[in-house]
Amino acid sequence: MDKILVIHGPNLNLLGQREEDIYGKMTLGEINAQLEALAQKNNMALHIVQSNHEGEIVDVIGQSSKDDFKAILINPAAFTHTSVAVRDAIAAVPIPAVEVHLSNIYAREDFRHTSHIAPVCHGQISGFGPQSYILGLQALGNLIKNS
Ligand code: DQA
Repeated sequence: MDKILVIHGPNLNLLGQREEDIYGKMTLGEINAQLEALAQKNNMALHIVQSNHEGEIVDVIGQSSKDDFKAILINPAAFTHTSVAVRDAIAAVPIPAVEVHLSNIYAREDFRHTSHIAPVCHGQISGFGPQSYILGLQALGNLIKNS
């Protein structure tokens, strides 16, 4: 089984009640359940973390390859646009990461158009709602198989 680290950044614990017009009605628990179902079919074991704290996210990324994770699926949420520390953590570990967003960050406010994280990721998926996570996990599964 390939171990995959899934990271949800700040405020994503509020999905389902947070700005429903932008992020939809699905809760984080429901998104995680969909990811778990896909992972089971594809011989992947997920470790899912949600944190509102930048340092905690940096710690978990920094530890990831030692903990034998094969890849990282991350929605850095607001840290996408602010965090050099999360970017540097991803750059520091020798495993691929995919960045995902529920909303299309390029169709929103100007300050969301810059991702500090995307340049150190294998790729970015943005704008497909909860399906962004599914597409991201599928992409990582293919990357691992082909590496
Ligand atoms: C988000 C987009 C970010 O700009 C925002 O800060 C979030 C959620 C998304 O999934 O669409 O919290 O990452």
